[in-house]
Amino acid sequence: MGETFAHLICPICGTLLTKEGASLYCRGARRHCYDISAAGYVNLLPPGKKNNARAGDDKEMLRCRSRFLSGGWYDPISETAARLGGEATDKDPKKFFVDAGCGEGYHTCNIARNLPDGSASCFGIGIDAAKSGAAAGAKLARAAGIDGVQFIAGNIFAMPLEDQCADLVYSIFAPIPGVEAARILKPGGALIVACAGREHLWELRCQLYGRPRVGEGVQMPAGFAVAHKETLSYAIHLPHQDAIRCLFAMTPFYYRCPSEGRQRLLACESLTVKVEVDFTVLTL
Ligand SMILES: C[S@@+](CC[C@H](N)C(=O)[O-])C[C@H]1O[C@@H](n2cnc3c(N)ncnc32)[C@H](O)[C@@H]1O
Repeated sequence: MGETFAHLICPICGTLLTKEGASLYCRGARRHCYDISAAGYVNLLPPGKKNNARAGDDKEMLRCRSRFLSGGWYDPISETAARLGGEATDKDPKKFFVDAGCGEGYHTCNIARNLPDGSASCFGIGIDAAKSGAAAGAKLARAAGIDGVQFIAGNIFAMPLEDQCADLVYSIFAPIPGVEAARILKPGGALIVACAGREHLWELRCQLYGRPRVGEGVQMPAGFAVAHKETLSYAIHLPHQDAIRCLFAMTPFYYRCPSEGRQRLLACESLTVKVEVDFTVLTL
């Protein structure tokens, strides 16, 4: 069983938070208080951004991603992430991981399940700017009986976590918080980045653009050394239009593609699509 809301700091004064009843209190003179929501997540977005309904992905994007991910088509991604995390930190069986930009927590929960000795000795935190994502993650973990994972609404570029607390930081299809990852990682820890490979979702992009360009990859953050790289590549068969639409809504193409391409894709009855994900394990 994991530790509950460990290593969190106050987004206002930076002091450690401790759980008292259904709230987290900081150790500062003003004892800032953050309630644990009924869903089980805590909102640690910095003041001023707390009520920003447009922070992070919108509800429709999150809903589509939840529907698509629950089909299991992306499970090899979280399984690979967990395996690489285990290999990167195999000397310490007790692991604290942070999933930065966790969306609705699907990969976060899967990583917790699949890390070596996961359910027994690892615990983790999923952070997303979208409150609805953090809420969905907390519900998912609760429904799956994964009590070592907590979810926070927060900014990954100013993470509400203490220095050198994490064994692993994951960045899966999300902006990469290099400076913050370097701050919160323990010595010997690793940042694991998963991003779209050159031909990721190739057939979907062919429908949208006719002749798509191959992807250019993602710039890795400065200050880290590349300890390992590998590419995960496999095909998925989407047997109905709903799965195609949900996958489409998860991608950056959803809001910026030609309308005839959108119509062509959404008219497909089924589609076989290549999944290609580049994993990079970075160490300090
Ligand atoms: C493409 S989604 C990936 C979600 C999840 N990792 C997955 O693969 O299913 C990127 C996520 O990063 C989040 N995000 C973007 N900027 C952020 C920030 N500054 N702080 C926290 N989350 C952020 C978005 O809200 C979104 O949920």
